Amino acid sequence: MMAPMRPVIIAANWKMHTTPEDAGELAATIAARSGEPGVVRVVCPPFVCLAAVREALAGTGIAVGAQNLHHEIAGPFTGEVSAPMLAGLATWVILGHSERRRDAAETDALIGRKLGRAVEAGLRPILCVGEQLTEREAGRAEAVVSAQVTGCLGDHDPDALTAAGLVVAYEPVWAIGTGRNARGADAAAMAGLIRRTAAGLGWGDSAERLPVLYGGSVTAVNIGEFLAEPSIDGALVGGASLKPDEMAGIVGRAAVTARARLAAGGS
Ligand code: 13P
Repeated sequence: MMAPMRPVIIAANWKMHTTPEDAGELAATIAARSGEPGVVRVVCPPFVCLAAVREALAGTGIAVGAQNLHHEIAGPFTGEVSAPMLAGLATWVILGHSERRRDAAETDALIGRKLGRAVEAGLRPILCVGEQLTEREAGRAEAVVSAQVTGCLGDHDPDALTAAGLVVAYEPVWAIGTGRNARGADAAAMAGLIRRTAAGLGWGDSAERLPVLYGGSVTAVNIGEFLAEPSIDGALVGGASLKPDEMAGIVGRAAVTARARLAAGGS
């Protein structure tokens, strides 16, 4: 059987940076410097910047994503944003980021509910998983990540998640915003574990089609180490995604992998 050809994806997580006044210009600059149609490109600004970024990216081929959504559709949830509210503003959404697990006490069960809302609303989810440093040092990284995947995906129909284009981002917490990235081989091993876990949840062969990204201190300099791993399909980029030069380098390197995959074929 031929290996499935997975897309190469570079997603920018702007976190709590930019304003409606400056986000559009930054997005337009990144788009002008990262024109690689063979790479799936996504920019995820803060909620209040979605409209400006969407307008700036219209016609560029770069998609817009949100960074979170609420697990209910509507109701008395002050300050929250639901999946249906994102219609017309975003087509992707990041879920379960470790900063939300840490600051908003999001659990796998809650993230799983959010996943359901995203799928119902036709949003393409990027599910984040990853271990803490203490967990890695205790030799528990694999168990933690596998449990997160199971806890978030376990209640969902694999076909529905596949149809929604689910992407998983492996983001070891100790590598986020620290300048200390994981080794490519370690991230690749985690990507394999994530797909094996999905296969065990009834995904079967579809697990091999599940895109897995790496995130954590990705830069234009180290992106090559991750994309050299056939099991890694791109990156979820934080700090460097606010810098057009960095994004140009990251997306440019991703285009090399996208072209190589195309040339190698696949099913
Ligand atoms: P940094 O690239 O800033 O380490 O952030 C990674 C991240 O959390 C992306 O979601």
